[in-house]
Amino acid sequence: MFFTQYWINKPDIVMGLGWSSFLAIAAVLVVLCRVIYALFVSPLRHIPGPFLARLTSKRAGLIGSLGLMTKYSRTRDKANTATSTSDIRAVYGSHKFRKTDFYRGVDMLGIEHMFSTRNPDLADTRRRQFGPYLNTGYLARVEPILAAHGPESLKLKWDKLYGERQGGDKLQQGFPVRHIRYADFPLLNTYPFSMLMRPWERGYDGVTKYAIESAFIDAEDPQSKTRMTERQVQAECLNMLLAGSEAAANTLAWTVHLLMLHPEHYRRAVGEPACSKSMRLHPVSGGLWPRRAPKEGVRLQGYFVPGGTEIFINVTGAHHNPGVWENPLKYDPSRFLDNEEARRNVFTFGAGVRACPGRHLAVLEMMSILANMLKDYDLAVPEDYVRRGPRVLDENGNPKLMEDVQFLVSIPVDPKRDCRLVLTKCTA
Ligand code: HEM
Repeated sequence: MFFTQYWINKPDIVMGLGWSSFLAIAAVLVVLCRVIYALFVSPLRHIPGPFLARLTSKRAGLIGSLGLMTKYSRTRDKANTATSTSDIRAVYGSHKFRKTDFYRGVDMLGIEHMFSTRNPDLADTRRRQFGPYLNTGYLARVEPILAAHGPESLKLKWDKLYGERQGGDKLQQGFPVRHIRYADFPLLNTYPFSMLMRPWERGYDGVTKYAIESAFIDAEDPQSKTRMTERQVQAECLNMLLAGSEAAANTLAWTVHLLMLHPEHYRRAVGEPACSKSMRLHPVSGGLWPRRAPKEGVRLQGYFVPGGTEIFINVTGAHHNPGVWENPLKYDPSRFLDNEEARRNVFTFGAGVRACPGRHLAVLEMMSILANMLKDYDLAVPEDYVRRGPRVLDENGNPKLMEDVQFLVSIPVDPKRDCRLVLTKCTA
């Protein structure tokens, strides 16, 4: 009753100012209070970072949205994201740090799957269901299939191009970021906006049909004895298609790029070692992986982070951390020789309870493609390729890398310009 009267009989202050001025002043005051809180009261106020990002607890998310992720992950001022290897292991290592709602944006067919789920129990169930199909023993059995769809099909394609043009073609065509961009525009997942994406999603029909015939339909969790529904299998297969093929393809692109810039390592490069080195210097998954701080809060890199705050794992930052790596921006294959600690500090496949379950598959794919590629062809940068090359150096004196954009996966900004190669078939 009091409230009704209060609002019907406008308060004096509103009478004096008018509604619009009153609301504008109220909005300014709210913003001012938030700024004062963020800069002088919030427990996060000591954490460094760009001014704008310091005004929000989603500071690293903002850096990402502003397209500054690469810049900030490579500067010294890394405290706005987790770059310390021990802290990363602690965050990744426990379900107490859950995936955030950011991952809702990559749900498939409107449902959660192993990668996107925010529910630790579902993630564990899927891990048990898929485990037998992604371990090294099973992969050894399906190696002929992997070979046919990996190195052999690439060779067929290249030989055809080679015959047609006698050398010189693009290594890769780009990357279907559109789907991943759902995460930026979650509204596109909801009706009626989801209808806009229908025609594009139909392109995946083949995969979803194939998915229900896949081995995963029989995948059973040995603990709960549960299996997946057809729709769940389809969502998982779509995710694996994206998570798996694009990440592996882009890792290979970066590996070849680095080998082209470092001819001294090119000839010695074979399969896995070459890939793992590029995965440190230029991790394709070098974006920021968000987790939520547990309700009791956590101390990270010397700062107290209150419960509920989004924590971003900064893989590139960790891989370039001068406290962990000597001369971090140098492509130096020898740093991994007999060095188990160095390998442990590479987080390209994540770590802990939500680590990439497809890593053995990815390594096998990349290893066999790269080894066969280097065996059958000589790769070289085209003569007109003047923007990059072993002698075009950056401010640190290292060969300048091609520019990339980072979202979930890092991709070259301009693959048509920067991912060109001259192929010469080895005759011997
Ligand atoms: C070079 C190739 C690959 C890279 C760099 C990569 C990287 C990653 C990373 C960093 C994560 C953790 C993400 C996070 O913490 O949120 C992850 C998770 C995942 N990856 Fe991969 N991945 C690759 C290949 C694959 C392949 C081939 C598959 C499928 C067979 C796959 C399936 C998954 C799934 C299902 C998850 C979610 C696991 C969970 O959250 O419990 N990935 N991957």
